[in-house]
Amino acid sequence: MIPFLDLNQVNAPYLQAIEDASLRVIRSGWYILGNELNSFEKAFAEYCETEHCIGVANGLDAITLILLALDLPADAEIIVPANTYIASVLPVSYLHLKPVFVEPDPHTMLIDPARIEQAITPATKAIITVDLYGRSCEIAAIVDLGRKYKLKVITDAAQAHGATHTGRKVGAWADATAFSFYPTKNLGALGDAGAITTGDAALAEKIRYLRNYGSVIRYQNEYQGVNSRLDEMQAAILGVKLPYLDAENTRRREIAARYLRELQCSDLMLPPGDRIDEDAWHLFVVRHPRRAELVAYLEARGVQTNVHYPQPIHKQLAYKEFKDLHLPLTEQIHEQVISLPLNPVITDDEVAYIIQTVNQFDRQ
Ligand SMILES: Cc1ncc(COP(=O)(O)O)c(C=O)c1O
Repeated sequence: MIPFLDLNQVNAPYLQAIEDASLRVIRSGWYILGNELNSFEKAFAEYCETEHCIGVANGLDAITLILLALDLPADAEIIVPANTYIASVLPVSYLHLKPVFVEPDPHTMLIDPARIEQAITPATKAIITVDLYGRSCEIAAIVDLGRKYKLKVITDAAQAHGATHTGRKVGAWADATAFSFYPTKNLGALGDAGAITTGDAALAEKIRYLRNYGSVIRYQNEYQGVNSRLDEMQAAILGVKLPYLDAENTRRREIAARYLRELQCSDLMLPPGDRIDEDAWHLFVVRHPRRAELVAYLEARGVQTNVHYPQPIHKQLAYKEFKDLHLPLTEQIHEQVISLPLNPVITDDEVAYIIQTVNQFDRQ
């Protein structure tokens, strides 16, 4: 079986360095808010070509903390992509703000700036964009919309470490960008971890307080904060892996380019290939009208696939208040998407086998 993703293999090249870093942390006797976090925050801000990085406990908290720091009025409308993972939207409703779902561009499957503009009302206060599957959304146009309508722009780049838009890193565009370092991500920890990048010094400072009970000096609390810190162990491990992120993304781009060149199967829709070198290719998401058949066919031939995602947010029980909302583009995407294996450790032979097998699907 070709696994969708084997994390043992992904981390194998770094095992010795991870063991050394972990031992260093264990022996330091300092496990929360220390030197490992400081140096990772500095390195990740530099990597994202921005001023500030604040390490937090996970990607969901990163989005929540940005919204909390922006201190938006209750019932403010927040524009969110209809096609995304639920974690992009949960912070909005958790903070009693109103998510306004916007359909994607049918080709890129990412939030469509023209549709965002149509959804803006006097109650709109922010736009959350998502660089889903590893490709940057149309962030330049969305930042312009933010300026035009005086809205905050937040990017969820949980799937897009290392992606760029017109040559500039995601993480440097929006008012603030949220990252997840969940183990399967392009930059993955060995546990939960996340970060926020921003060029806004005041926002960065407030988030630094908020992630630590609203405090930066022990027992002095300026805000009603939360406990959401990126611990020293995960920061040290991320510090080991960050220098290799670009090389891993280059390998992802090679595989994506080959899939785009060689996959030929009728009714199979490929992801856009116009920005291969800007995309971080977290996932290689194709579409097929007979998804269940294709998934079973590949499984029977030893290729493990995945579906990102099977059910749209507005059709989840958790969001039953939106159950009558009809978002046809998003709903069709959720019925058709399949993620093929794409990761830095898959071999050329495995890629060749996947291509050959997919291409024979309609010739069986
Ligand atoms: C698009 C997106 N946003 C947010 C998250 C949340 O990240 P985390 O699992 O670290 O909370 C994830 C990952 O799970 C994600 O894929």
